[in-house]
Amino acid sequence: MTNIVAVGIQWGDEGKGKIVDVIAPHMNIVARFQGGPNAGHTLVVGGKKIVLHHIPSGILHAGVKCFIGNGTILEAQGIVEEMDSLTQAGFDIEGQLFISERTHLIMPYHIALDKAREQSKGKAKIGTTGCGIGPTYEDKAARRGIRLADLSAKNIEERLTNNLEYYNFMLREYYKAPEVDMADVQASLALLRDRVLPFSANVSALLHAAEQQGQRLLYEGAQGLMLDTDHGTYPFVTSSNTVAGSAMAGLGVGALSATEIVGIAKAYCTRVGSGPFPTELFDETGTFLAEKGHEFGATTGRARRTGWFDAVAVRHAVQVNGLTGLIITKLDVLDGLKEIKLCTSYELNGETLNHVPALAQDMNDSKAIYQSFAGWEGSTYGLTSPDDLPKEAQALLDAISQICDCPVVMLSTGPDRDHVMWLSDTLK
Ligand code: IMP
Repeated sequence: MTNIVAVGIQWGDEGKGKIVDVIAPHMNIVARFQGGPNAGHTLVVGGKKIVLHHIPSGILHAGVKCFIGNGTILEAQGIVEEMDSLTQAGFDIEGQLFISERTHLIMPYHIALDKAREQSKGKAKIGTTGCGIGPTYEDKAARRGIRLADLSAKNIEERLTNNLEYYNFMLREYYKAPEVDMADVQASLALLRDRVLPFSANVSALLHAAEQQGQRLLYEGAQGLMLDTDHGTYPFVTSSNTVAGSAMAGLGVGALSATEIVGIAKAYCTRVGSGPFPTELFDETGTFLAEKGHEFGATTGRARRTGWFDAVAVRHAVQVNGLTGLIITKLDVLDGLKEIKLCTSYELNGETLNHVPALAQDMNDSKAIYQSFAGWEGSTYGLTSPDDLPKEAQALLDAISQICDCPVVMLSTGPDRDHVMWLSDTLK
């Protein structure tokens, strides 16, 4: 039995969508365990662009079932648009997509508060995606959230009225922002009842049954470890646990369910939104990485900040996720660089740090200490065999593996499905 957890281990946007797309044909089920429409990946199918935010890219493979777990949150309009674009592109989602009845719902008042709050913070803003992620997870912890199952609760109207009163008070009195109309909330509810509720299921029970039948399960995370609400650069993080251990809570499967835990990282590093980023580049190399790597967010279209690979952060991710393998993406973006750097430690107030500091301010003040590597001649674009890798690229990968204390099990060398190098059979 092979059950795999696949997580991002930088600040998101590591190329998880593509990797899930590559591994999915070897699996029976792909199940997403946290996050919401703040995530996003763009897929081109038959010349048509499909942007998925909630639904795992496994949906593109006939016969692979896709689950959205209780640890995720969803927004009515967004998920319905994804469903429609998949149907229009010829994908049959019925019988292939299952959404946990315990999944919390993003309501119009969550989105309004997220935006109002960011606006009021000015320069101190986190740079959220504005999708209502923080307020929805807050409501979950505060026990006033609305889940898919709650749509059939007798007291749903009363709970919504109370919530709206609370949110409108905050919007009006504290943020001096426009209030949300009950009609918008009702419209969201109607859409959920009509279009989303038919997909609701007891995901935990379905996964348990699948495991008993010896099916192969892929647990897919969103964002990345450095955005984890506990292990990331708090408070510049998202509002859920992105760490692999959260797959179990976010899907309702046993703690021993996974047999492989893979962490996905770019061969360099990007970040959107505010927060510390010790290896950030402000020079022409940063621009080169941004342009060559097409570093613009799928959810917000914002330009991503770019920098060198941060092995301190990845080592932290290896430890807290318990990774069994690293998947390095976008290696080809480094083609053409004369020198490539890896950050191996930080320096803070004259002291060497080998770990990620808990305090964002300390991380912000940390200077990256680098090990330098020679770049390579020629192109790694689309390479599929390790024998074809330039020796300098191999040396860089060996160093990543050694410094981060984890083997590299797969490489992505271009945007297409076929642009991938399997370095281990454990994921097949
Ligand atoms: P939120 O998740 O929308 O609350 O945003 C919190 C922080 O996480 C912001 O810095 C976002 O830019 C970042 N973030 C959230 N989701 C993603 C993602 O999928 N990729 C990259 N950054 C993300």
